[in-house]
Amino acid sequence: MILEFMRDDHRVCDELFVTAENALSDKKIDEAKKLYEEFYLLTNHHFDMEEKQLFITFEKRTGMMGGPTQMMRYEHQQLRAQMEAMLKALRDDKYDDFFGIGESFMIMLQQHNMKEEQMLYPMIDRALSGDGELMVETLKEMPKGNPL
Ligand SMILES: [Fe+2]
Ligand SMILES: [Fe+2]
Repeated sequence: MILEFMRDDHRVCDELFVTAENALSDKKIDEAKKLYEEFYLLTNHHFDMEEKQLFITFEKRTGMMGGPTQMMRYEHQQLRAQMEAMLKALRDDKYDDFFGIGESFMIMLQQHNMKEEQMLYPMIDRALSGDGELMVETLKEMPKGNPL
């Protein structure tokens, strides 16, 4: 159930990013900026759900501290930095920079999400056993960031 909930959230974020890129390609600048900012907030929120709830709970229950969760945190740092750089590029109207960073960002994000969906989320679901629903409720209640 964590797998399902978080996989759906990956899809929502992905689609927002593609929609933002398409708007920018069509020279709909304001719309692209709005969509990208939405993507930025949602994806940072997604990483927060993982870092502040899922990973910590998983580590407590399994005692696995230096394994997959640590690797995912490290990848979040790199992804967050790229997202920040894209936000800046967009605000400075450097669209080529935005697309350039976006290309490697999307490859890294897809690989990251695949590792979570195929390996880590199923492990978290097993570790949570009967408490999966409760965790989903907790995640739903986590506040999203304020509009930029
Ligand atoms: Fe992640
Ligand atoms: Fe994720």
